Amino acid sequence: MTTIYQISDLHFGRERPALVRALVDEINTRAPELVAVSGDLTQSARRREFAATRDFLAQLAPPVLVVPGNHDVPDWDLIRRLLRPWKRYGRYITEDPYPSYSSPTLAVLGLNSARRWSPHTDWSRGRLSAYQMDEVERFFAGAQPGAVRVVVVHHPFVAHELVLGRGVIGRKEMALECFEHAGVDLMLSGHLHIHHSETMAARGGERTLVAAQAGTTVSDRLKAGYPNSFNIIELDRARIRIRIRCWAEDNGFRDCERLDYRRAPAGWEPEPA
Ligand SMILES: [Fe+2]
Ligand SMILES: [Fe+2]
Repeated sequence: MTTIYQISDLHFGRERPALVRALVDEINTRAPELVAVSGDLTQSARRREFAATRDFLAQLAPPVLVVPGNHDVPDWDLIRRLLRPWKRYGRYITEDPYPSYSSPTLAVLGLNSARRWSPHTDWSRGRLSAYQMDEVERFFAGAQPGAVRVVVVHHPFVAHELVLGRGVIGRKEMALECFEHAGVDLMLSGHLHIHHSETMAARGGERTLVAAQAGTTVSDRLKAGYPNSFNIIELDRARIRIRIRCWAEDNGFRDCERLDYRRAPAGWEPEPA
């Protein structure tokens, strides 16, 4: 089995320094194969927040794959938002719209679901687009046969009953159909600040995938009584184990929940405890 650390919704500018220090120590001690960061790196896309994010990422020893979230587009300056939405993200983090990681055990592709504008009144909502699906097909067609296939994207595929007002990712069905055909096993998302995972399939689809949400790992923007958390994901072609590490004020990050899935003929299914 190999290991991915999924961290999310860091919101630098609203970070809790003790949690940042504990997270860096744990990641560098455990040395996972990959750290996946599922968006909302900053609180308001300000230069100092991106610089803090860059300095944090530079402290991590393992390879890191990052996608942006809706908070990484300037929301306080409409001209900047519409004309140069990704300039700061590109300067401080990466200009690669399709960050990826490939090894004999993992094929991981990041997709940007944040948008500079939205037809909805809520511009924090995100979506995927048809042109991004071409890259999904191309990337996974080149994946090694023993690799578990993972997509990282900020906006969620699952709605959560505690935050129903926050929409799931736009064009979800299009994406799920594409992911099914591309053999994707696992989708990693954030945005809700609530840790959660479940299996799902495209409407009329024949194969289920695992959708995993991470909470906000180090920010003070806690939602619905959920603590700061991140996911340790241990996986191979037969099994996916999601260990959720929650922050306890007097005890640091500790295991607080575990979900196990196994591969079956019709896709991934929960494994009874
Ligand atoms: Fe967030
Ligand atoms: Fe978000």
